[in-house]
Parts: sequence; C-alpha cells; structure tokens
Amino acid sequence: LPAAAFMLQDQEVLAAEVSEIVSRFERKGYKLVGIKVMVPSKGFAQKHYHDLKERPFFNGLCNFLSSGPVVAMVWEGEGVIRYGRKLIGATDPQKSEPGTIRGDLAVVVGRNIIHGSDGPETAKDEISLWFKPEELVSYTSNAEKWIYGQN
Ligand code: GTP
Ligand code: MG
Repeated sequence: LPAAAFMLQDQEVLAAEVSEIVSRFERKGYKLVGIKVMVPSKGFAQKHYHDLKERPFFNGLCNFLSSGPVVAMVWEGEGVIRYGRKLIGATDPQKSEPGTIRGDLAVVVGRNIIHGSDGPETAKDEISLWFKPEELVSYTSNAEKWIYGQN
C-alpha cells in the first residue's frame, strides 16, 4: 500500500489534478482504499518528511506541505508501491518522462505535485501517519477478475 499526497492552492486546479491522478492509478488497475483532504500542520509535515531533515530544502518543503490542502490517498494492488513510483515519475519533473504524472503536470522539483511512498515500510508508516484504520476500506471490485484473472 502506498500513500500518495499532493497539493495545489487553487480549487479548480485541485479538482482537475485529483481526478487526473485518481484516473491514472485506476486505469492501471489499482484500487483506491482511502482518500481525504486536509491541511497538515508544520509539525505533521516535518513528521512526514523526517528522513529529509538534514537537507537544505527541508524547511521550505515542510512550509509548502503545510501551506494548503493536501489530498491523501491509499492505493492497493500488486506492485503498487514500485509501479506507482513509475507512474509518478522522477523526483525532478525536468527529468521525469512524458507520460508520467510529474513529467506531464509539473515543472520544478520543489513543486512536483505528488508524493509516493518509497517502500513497504515507509508506506506502512505513512499510512498510519495520514489515516486512522477506520478511514481505510476493504472491498472487492468487479474489475478485479479482469485485472488479475482467476485461478
Ligand atoms: P516523494 O515521493 O515526494 O518522497 O519524492 P521522491 O521520493 O521522488 O524524492 P525525495 O524523497 O528524495 O524528496 C522528497 C521531496 O523533497 C521531493 O518530492 C521534492 O518535493 C523535495 N525535494 C527533493 N529534492 C529537492 C531539491 O533538491 N530541492 C527542493 N527544493 N526540493 C527537493
Ligand atoms: Mg521520497
């Protein structure tokens, strides 16, 4: 399970980006099991990015993350953490391939639109930071037999 969160200041842009990003993960075959909008506090942002606290951009990054609405999502599916990062693209949008989220929708590294967990352990930690257990749903979608087959 990866956590994905992204933010933009403008509401219309926010709606457009949310539907664009949700549809990219959904079309691939992944399943949305949690989504919400929140404005994180600076302390929350510092927790989320704690592994970057020695980096020169840490303070600016945390100020940005806490400066407006963030849409947090949890996606489920085979290989979703690793492949989700491919859908997202390289950290620097100037180096992200066209066809990726950052390649198509962002220009600079400090405003690269989306975050994705980088492994199962960080996904677990980030999901529990962003979501309460009861905010995550469990369901089987009709599409699953077409996405995964049946044995
Ligand atoms: P995330 O999915 O957001 O974790 O991105 P990532 O895993 O591709 O990159 P990383 O974890 O190394 O960095 C986390 C975030 O810090 C990035 O998404 C950027 O928003 C920001 N960041 C990373 N490197 C730089 C940098 O050199 N300058 C600035 N301003 N921001 C950076
Ligand atoms: Mg990262």
